[in-house]
Amino acid sequence: MQQLWSDIDCFIEKHLTPQDPALSYAIENTEQQGFPEHLAVAPNQGMLLQMLIQMNACKRILEVGTFAAYSTMWLARALPEDGYVLTIEAREKHANLAQQHIDFAKKEYPATIELKLGNAVEILKMLPEDTEAFDFIFIDADKQSYPEYLDLSLKLSHSGTVIVLDNVIRAGDILDLDNHKPSIEGIRETYTRLQNHPRILSCTALQTIGSKGHDGFAIAIVK
Ligand SMILES: C[S@@+](CC[C@H](N)C(=O)[O-])C[C@H]1O[C@@H](n2cnc3c(N)ncnc32)[C@H](O)[C@@H]1O
Repeated sequence: MQQLWSDIDCFIEKHLTPQDPALSYAIENTEQQGFPEHLAVAPNQGMLLQMLIQMNACKRILEVGTFAAYSTMWLARALPEDGYVLTIEAREKHANLAQQHIDFAKKEYPATIELKLGNAVEILKMLPEDTEAFDFIFIDADKQSYPEYLDLSLKLSHSGTVIVLDNVIRAGDILDLDNHKPSIEGIRETYTRLQNHPRILSCTALQTIGSKGHDGFAIAIVK
């Protein structure tokens, strides 16, 4: 099935992915420099992020887990001139690669993109008290920390903030109760926290199949 899913993603991409120099540069340069391109969201998933941001007229975006800033490009594309993306990456090699793509994107997109290097939990805890809440939060880093990212995201949210968490299905591994990998335990704990959370207005998770295999997004709206 994987070949069919990948072929269909290619078909969707061919028809619906916009021609965008910043997106192309991020993909090509990542590949040329020998980084694993599969870490990034697929183009149709990036477009979903862009559309969620546009639907909600979001201006302030937080991203946890930058890698090469490919998803960051999709977040930034959706923003107006006074828009802002803060993206956080722990690995210096990834951050350096991402910064190249962000510098390129500055010529293409009007919004401000800021990359912070470091552990996202520490960086988020160190943000000034008066940090303005974010309108949209995309969580796509180490899965064992998702519960903590969710808690910190809620602190940095306002009523109506949209929170998207990537990779919450892991080809079904979340159902295997003998699987005690920290990443899988982290995702299961995230579902538990999302369930009936007093600060969540509504929440769902959608399975995705495609070039990235079988995985999924959780999407929550803050009350
Ligand atoms: C799946 S990749 C992100 C892909 C990116 N969002 C995209 O779609 O283009 C996850 C990234 O999170 C970073 N990461 C892992 N643990 C982290 C942490 N504790 N704090 C910040 N970044 C972290 C990894 O180094 C990796 O670059």
